[in-house]
Amino acid sequence: MPESSPPLAHPEPAPTRQVLRGDLLDFTADPGFAPPAEATGVRWRPDHFLMIEGERIAAIQPASQALPAGWADVPVADHRGQLVMPGFIDTHVHCPQLDVIASYGTELLDWLNTYTFPAERRYIDPTVAHEGAERFLHALWAHGTTSAVVFPTVHKVSVEALFDQARAHHMRLITGKVLMDRHAPEGLLDDVEQAEKDCVDLIDRFHGQDRLSFAVTVRFAPTSTPEQLTMAGRLCQTYAGTYMQTHVAENRDEVKWVAELFPTARSYLDVYDREGLIGPRAVLAHGIWLDANDRAVLKAHGAQIAHSPSSNLFLGSGLFNWLEAEREGVHVSLASDVGGGTSLSMLRNIADAYKIQALQGVRLSAWKALHTCTLGAASHLGLAHEIGRLEPGCMADVVAWHVAHGPVAEHRDRVAQDKLARDLHERVFAWVTMGDERNLVSTYVAGQCVHSAPRAVDQ
Ligand code: GUN
Ligand code: ZN
Repeated sequence: MPESSPPLAHPEPAPTRQVLRGDLLDFTADPGFAPPAEATGVRWRPDHFLMIEGERIAAIQPASQALPAGWADVPVADHRGQLVMPGFIDTHVHCPQLDVIASYGTELLDWLNTYTFPAERRYIDPTVAHEGAERFLHALWAHGTTSAVVFPTVHKVSVEALFDQARAHHMRLITGKVLMDRHAPEGLLDDVEQAEKDCVDLIDRFHGQDRLSFAVTVRFAPTSTPEQLTMAGRLCQTYAGTYMQTHVAENRDEVKWVAELFPTARSYLDVYDREGLIGPRAVLAHGIWLDANDRAVLKAHGAQIAHSPSSNLFLGSGLFNWLEAEREGVHVSLASDVGGGTSLSMLRNIADAYKIQALQGVRLSAWKALHTCTLGAASHLGLAHEIGRLEPGCMADVVAWHVAHGPVAEHRDRVAQDKLARDLHERVFAWVTMGDERNLVSTYVAGQCVHSAPRAVDQ
């Protein structure tokens, strides 16, 4: 080849095309606590084609219309009669706690010491951390969750393992090194200087790469010295695009302990606020025992509470007053908080959320709950351009669901379908109330099928 020839062009291969056919359900706005029949923002597109090109949704159209040129020979995954929804977003979940999910008999502080801290200590071992991260992400997908805000452990390798696994699958993941420099056992403690260096290194290597974001991760106020909280605030201010995640006001004994440890703070939330930790990218789990001043602070910053229903019931922490938070302008998302929570399934967590509200005389519609796990969480995380919706241009993080699994749910669904034209909510509500991961058909992350339920074999 003469020296002057231009280098051979290597055109990018055309992105793969695929089509899903099913009943599309997503949201265009928050239905709020309106009665289901009056709710707005619900987008129901029965029997539609969802067209995927590469990692993104390319187009959506009724299946009654012929596919456009260039799509006619594309394989169609047949999800007719199934719900096709955006993947769920779990805004607070602990990777290493799959080892202690469903541990008997204690409230928060005792549960941490008895079960959680010993399990987290094992993550100093890179093999444990990498195997744990892989198992965890596969478990999320098998439960219909495609994006998450995750607590690893204090060990840097536990963060690297999660980021590596998520990046390999182009998954949207928010996580960061857990900060804790007191009130935890040996093997789970860091120090301010090394912790800051580790966080900066992780931010440099992972934050903003692919679909990864770093979160400054204060475990909770009792396990950080005031000096460490100041350092965490400095990180949030210096790296403005990062998130912040922590726990707040979950349990009454915890709240009393924080008041003793930080006597000059106005409240538990103030311990974080006065260090500059509360901003629009702050995700605070629980928030059961906050007061009106705290809620005003959260509203002013656009910070969100990650309401964790199954955890709050299981650990006996209390009943979160969602309606009050909503009326006072606080952003609320839904979270599994496994292993305080008893299931990674957002459906099961929705069912628990319904019961928590019912005990307080409030009715949580399936529309409000599903919006919260999809577009609501995406909006509060500043990611609605990417996840939480079935919209051309968004990432193809999509899940197909059977509306009913098992004879009782199937019978209930047949009854509800008789009235479908009048009341779609009745059918979808029965699904969220009775459903779980056994209803799941397929999970797609960035256009790749990462989990498929095994097909039933005829006897
Ligand atoms: N508060 C501090 N750490 C934890 C944790 O791991 N789980 C829950 N539910 N609350 C916490
Ligand atoms: Zn938690």
